[in-house]
Amino acid sequence: MNPSLTVRRIAADQGDVFRELRTASLRDAPYAFGDTLEDALGADASVFDSTAAEHAASRTAATFILYTEGHPAGLIGACFDDTPQRRAFVRELWVAPAVRHLRGGELLVNTASEWLASEGAREIHAWVADENRNAMRFYERLGFGPTGDHARIARAPDQWETLLVRDVRFAPGVQEH
Ligand SMILES: CC(C)(COP(=O)(O)OP(=O)(O)OC[C@H]1O[C@@H](n2cnc3c(N)ncnc32)[C@H](O)[C@@H]1OP(=O)(O)O)[C@@H](O)C(=O)NCCC(=O)NCCS
Repeated sequence: MNPSLTVRRIAADQGDVFRELRTASLRDAPYAFGDTLEDALGADASVFDSTAAEHAASRTAATFILYTEGHPAGLIGACFDDTPQRRAFVRELWVAPAVRHLRGGELLVNTASEWLASEGAREIHAWVADENRNAMRFYERLGFGPTGDHARIARAPDQWETLLVRDVRFAPGVQEH
């Protein structure tokens, strides 16, 4: 692990950092996310402020930020859905191109997984666009495999995404519940 990379849960007053990272990720990798850059640019700053405040404290949704030398350089979302199974997801993963291949992505996924496990998750899910071969390989290297679920992408209905899953025991530092 690169020692200059750290991950911390978002703080309630980091709406501006959240907005900056989300717009940067959508500008850089529009193929990877359900939202569009236009959605993010069109949203009022208060939307990011309220999401940051919620994700700093909620027990069902969180955002984690990657820092390199103290500068924000990536993010990941973690959440439980509201189905009876209360499935746990990581989402909106992005690492700035300048700091890729330093295991920042791995650190984000593992930190988000540890938080989900601490809130009771046994499995961690992630939707990945079939065309995003890089992300698919990245998740497979971290121990994720296909669930069999496959769906059209709402933003681009001619394209498909695949639901991957990993047992929480694959995450370092996580004890089985
Ligand atoms: C996917 C993404 C988050 C990975 O971020 P990252 O910080 O580069 O991730 P890591 O460094 O942990 O691993 C990435 C790759 O680097 C390799 N790597 C990691 N450390 C390495 C090292 N020291 N030397 C050489 N290669 C290394 C890994 O093996 C991995 O390669 P692989 O994908 O061929 O298996 C990043 O590419 C990204 O933001 N992409 C655009 C957005 C996106 O697709 N998000 C996912 C949405 S589902």
